[in-house]
Amino acid sequence: MQNLPSIVQGAIDAAGIQASDLDAIAVTRGPGLPPCLSAGMNAAKTLAAVLRKPILGVHHMEAHALTARLTTKNAENSHVPSPVFPFITLLISGGHTLILLAQGVGRYKQLGTTLDDAVGEAIDKAARGLQLSWATQGRGGPGVALELAASNGRSDRFKAHLPLPMSDFKRAKELNFSFSGLKTAMNRLISRQDLVDLTRSQDVNDLAAAFQERCADHLAAKLELALEQCRTLGLTALVASGGVASNQTIRNRLSVLSQRFGLPLICPPPELCTDNGVMIAWTGIERLQAGMVDDYEMTTMPRWPI
Ligand code: KG4
Ligand code: ZN
Repeated sequence: MQNLPSIVQGAIDAAGIQASDLDAIAVTRGPGLPPCLSAGMNAAKTLAAVLRKPILGVHHMEAHALTARLTTKNAENSHVPSPVFPFITLLISGGHTLILLAQGVGRYKQLGTTLDDAVGEAIDKAARGLQLSWATQGRGGPGVALELAASNGRSDRFKAHLPLPMSDFKRAKELNFSFSGLKTAMNRLISRQDLVDLTRSQDVNDLAAAFQERCADHLAAKLELALEQCRTLGLTALVASGGVASNQTIRNRLSVLSQRFGLPLICPPPELCTDNGVMIAWTGIERLQAGMVDDYEMTTMPRWPI
């Protein structure tokens, strides 16, 4: 509420345009925390009404899913085709672990989500447990520190202590994620003084490598189920986004998987993978072009299934 006016003013100045040049106002409608959504919604409605512009309420997850259509479109010399519908989106961040089938603007099917922790949350806890220092790492924080440690480690030494989540007969075919068991197993392993000494960097690196590999295994196993399930739908791409998608081990695994299904893997640049305003504006453009304008009486949707 304090900062929105100056942010909006700054953005319009930076773009070198007048507010009257805008075609429409897009705003996050949900899901999210009610006070945050309300602050944005009220500002957007006021702006739209005063400027007499159409308003577009955007679903946070739709915005994540559609960002890849902006970044490939505008990338110079890009050999990556823009994902046309239908495509699969894997959204892996500190708050989400989600597989979506994107069928069209406003048309999504959630194929899987996490039953407990998000993958980024589990990674952050593991990094903390390993006492990795990430204050100096900047963006990406604990995840980047874990990846760095893992790059100097061997995953096979501790992997047997970290069981693959949901691999039992009953849940192996279920298209959801679960990271809390892996997190607990990691905590237990870290406290095994007979096996592990956190003052030895090799132990820390090997633990990080094993944990990272298990995250990749679990993500790939469930994504494979989704790709198999959608094999006959004419998919055009696999889009991976969210902070965790910048992890090279995980990205390599997704790349191998997508190649097996004959699909390009498309990852938007990290600054557009994390929550941002550009993705909301872009989704506003897509919705405006599809004629999906909302009215000024629109309300926020703190809980809003996609
Ligand atoms: O999408 P994001 O930047 O923010 C939101 O959660 O909205 O994702 C942040 C998450 C954090 O858990 C962070 O540790 C993780 O992404 N992350 C990584 C890497 N970079 C960021 N995890 C693993 N490897 C990375 N290189
Ligand atoms: Zn998000």
